[in-house]
Amino acid sequence: MSGPSAEQLAALAALRAEAEARVRAARGRDALQQLRTDYLGRKAGRLTAILKGLPALDPDARRAVGEAANAAKAAIETLLEAAERALAPAGSEAPRPDLTMPARRQWRGALHPVTLVVDEVCAIFGELGFTRYVGPEAETERNNFTALNFPPEHPSLEMHDTFYLGEGMLLRTHTSPLQIRVMEAYRPPIRVTMPGMCYRRDPFDPSHAPAFSQVEALAVDEGITFVDLKASLTYFARRFFGPSVRVRFRPSFFPFTEPSADMEVECLICHGTGCPACKGSGWMEILGAGMVDPNVFEAVGVDPERYTGWAFGMGPHRMAMLRYGVPDIRVLFEGDMRFHDQFVDGG
Ligand code: PHE
Repeated sequence: MSGPSAEQLAALAALRAEAEARVRAARGRDALQQLRTDYLGRKAGRLTAILKGLPALDPDARRAVGEAANAAKAAIETLLEAAERALAPAGSEAPRPDLTMPARRQWRGALHPVTLVVDEVCAIFGELGFTRYVGPEAETERNNFTALNFPPEHPSLEMHDTFYLGEGMLLRTHTSPLQIRVMEAYRPPIRVTMPGMCYRRDPFDPSHAPAFSQVEALAVDEGITFVDLKASLTYFARRFFGPSVRVRFRPSFFPFTEPSADMEVECLICHGTGCPACKGSGWMEILGAGMVDPNVFEAVGVDPERYTGWAFGMGPHRMAMLRYGVPDIRVLFEGDMRFHDQFVDGG
């Protein structure tokens, strides 16, 4: 073949080679789009112009040039499409995510350390046959004081110690009124733990709070002695704080128990050397206890000639401080997530 069609075929081959080289070298979506317009654009594409000129050629040249032009168009089109596919999806030229950025914090719920203590105390006594009993925080003066053998002039009855609600009601100052409720509802033998919040007009300081939890326990049966009380509480302390923990009992006084004792545990924050939490003594009082006073049995109609019993009231806030090394009770009331986050998997 010779003449104009040979020239056109050579020009076409050059155009195709040029287009293919430029597509291969192109970087980015805009560059590819520009090449598509340059070569294949409907109005001014250089290959389009050749195709548009075909009708003016004589039949042989038209066929030869037409075939070559169509093949070039298909080849450039294929190359452009492949190059476009190789680009990331539209819009992703935006900055890529910074994988070194710290992840957003995911908060998970957890039981309060005092709740963990209360549940564990009740579970340990649960193994010994104690069931769990709860009652109201707004109590009668009779259940909170009178039936528990408080004399009318007892200092606890003073306005500065107790939140009175009026009409013979108050916010219970301890969980001992639950002893009255249980003994009026059930006959002996009784073995029960009674957790709950209590209220006293104490200002916040490192070891006091105006609201605090207690767990009360009561065992009433024939033949119960002070030995049962000491043995049960010592067993409990070893289960709760560890087999080698040191405990001691000191004589005490409560209107509703006789004799009475306080149980102290070696301060686990300073290990007995003295710190603000144990007021320098090396010991922490965790509960008051004693043998149920016969006057209390009389008040609830239990025969004190036949039955004896022991009771204790312990402070889970103090115990949480000991167990988790919290030097100030106020931390247990503040709800600071940096503190509570440590208890997510059960403390
Ligand atoms: N109720 C007493 C208190 O709040 C504790 C206690 C309970 C003592 C039961 C003896 C028996 O301090």
